[in-house]
Amino acid sequence: MTEATLGANIVDLVDVDELREEVKKKYREVADTPTAEFHFHTGRQHALRMGYPELPLDQLPEEATEAFAGVANPFFWGLPEPGERVVDLGAGAGMDSFMAALAVGPEGHVIGVDMTPEMVDRATRLARELELDNIEFRLGFIEELPIDSGWAEVVISNGVINLCPDKLGVYREIHRILKPGGRMTIADICVERPVPEGALKDIDLWTG
Ligand SMILES: C[S@@+](CC[C@H](N)C(=O)[O-])C[C@H]1O[C@@H](n2cnc3c(N)ncnc32)[C@H](O)[C@@H]1O
Repeated sequence: MTEATLGANIVDLVDVDELREEVKKKYREVADTPTAEFHFHTGRQHALRMGYPELPLDQLPEEATEAFAGVANPFFWGLPEPGERVVDLGAGAGMDSFMAALAVGPEGHVIGVDMTPEMVDRATRLARELELDNIEFRLGFIEELPIDSGWAEVVISNGVINLCPDKLGVYREIHRILKPGGRMTIADICVERPVPEGALKDIDLWTG
């Protein structure tokens, strides 16, 4: 079996529309009530525990960090450089995008993409309040990125690709939007053993 057929098989097993609706339902709650209890950790202390750089994290107010729901630290290999163009896949409420925007400065630019409208609205409002002019948030799927080909120098993502059955589709899109020589720094959940077919079909296991 080739990698391509393996990817296609996962997509065929899962009801992608239903999965996306369930994921949106969960992250709508995070956007609207970030301090509620979830089955995953959220917020600034969670980021610090995972090794996020205190600078520029401590330049962000509480509201810009409280809905952070990542799984690890995509800045482990360093922050983007001043002047770079960055895309944040599944940007959620925008904390990683805000950090990238502070790192790239006025000459750089950051685009965060997320499929949950409440997340995009929240991140857009906060960017405006933080007076970050070098950042924008777009509604869309990371499997069909609303970004021009060859636009980005850096792609970051945190805790999102594990929620996408079509992983090859996501990586094809990353390849399309990155400039030659560009880089990606991705924090995510990986499994080391094949997942049984029954579990792949169970939407609750994807979102839980
Ligand atoms: C675990 S949260 C992480 C959010 C953000 N990266 C962070 O670290 O706080 C997952 C986010 O991915 C988004 N998402 C999941 N699947 C997506 C897809 N196929 N396309 C775009 N966004 C997606 C969800 O809406 C949610 O905001």
